[in-house]
Amino acid sequence: MNAPRPNDHDQASGPRPIVLYATMFGATELVAEQVALALQRELGTTVPCRDLAYLDLGVLADHDLLVVGLSTWNIGQLPSDMELRLPELAALDLNGKLLALFGTGDAVGYPDTYLDALEIVNDALIPTGVERIGAWPVAGYSFVESRAQRGDMFLGLGVDEDNEPELTEERVNAWTRKVLADYAETAPRVRLLAV
Ligand SMILES: Cc1cc2nc3c(=O)[nH]c(=O)nc-3n(C[C@H](O)[C@H](O)[C@H](O)COP(=O)(O)O)c2cc1C
Repeated sequence: MNAPRPNDHDQASGPRPIVLYATMFGATELVAEQVALALQRELGTTVPCRDLAYLDLGVLADHDLLVVGLSTWNIGQLPSDMELRLPELAALDLNGKLLALFGTGDAVGYPDTYLDALEIVNDALIPTGVERIGAWPVAGYSFVESRAQRGDMFLGLGVDEDNEPELTEERVNAWTRKVLADYAETAPRVRLLAV
């Protein structure tokens, strides 16, 4: 019999992540795949990566860590698939689950609305009872204004495939580790409150 590996996780206690994304032209899909792979490496388990446009939201019942990525579009707006599906997501009972957000944006072309869509999703999901983890430092990013900023942190990971694609892999890997550390710290309390 194989001894358990250090990365093996008890499926009953999680994390059981799923990566969901909304994209216009595919940049966020590529980043989502990197996030799913990084989670897989850390956890030693398969992590699904699904386009929100076609997702049966019933699958979320099997997951306690929702990793949601999207671009910001049309100057501070949601990509269209997220606009369509967000009301359904926002109507779910997500008590006991954790949410980690990541966003693609263009900090040079849209410096006053960089990653704004993260805030729209974050605010819409507050009534679901989901608890957000995975805040990420704004240090190292050049932008003027972002609705996704809280103090010296973003609501989640920001990547800029238009101007800094060479930084994406490193950012994704470091953020993924932070998400899992936040999960380990937060999940026991969230689960207790949800009972
Ligand atoms: C018309 C248009 C509007 C955009 N508006 C914003 C914006 O307000 N803020 C931002 O950070 N990025 C903005 N972007 C940049 C996109 O978010 C970025 O290119 C992203 O990587 C696209 O990802 P996607 O192909 O997954 O949708 C905009 C891009 C376009 C073409």
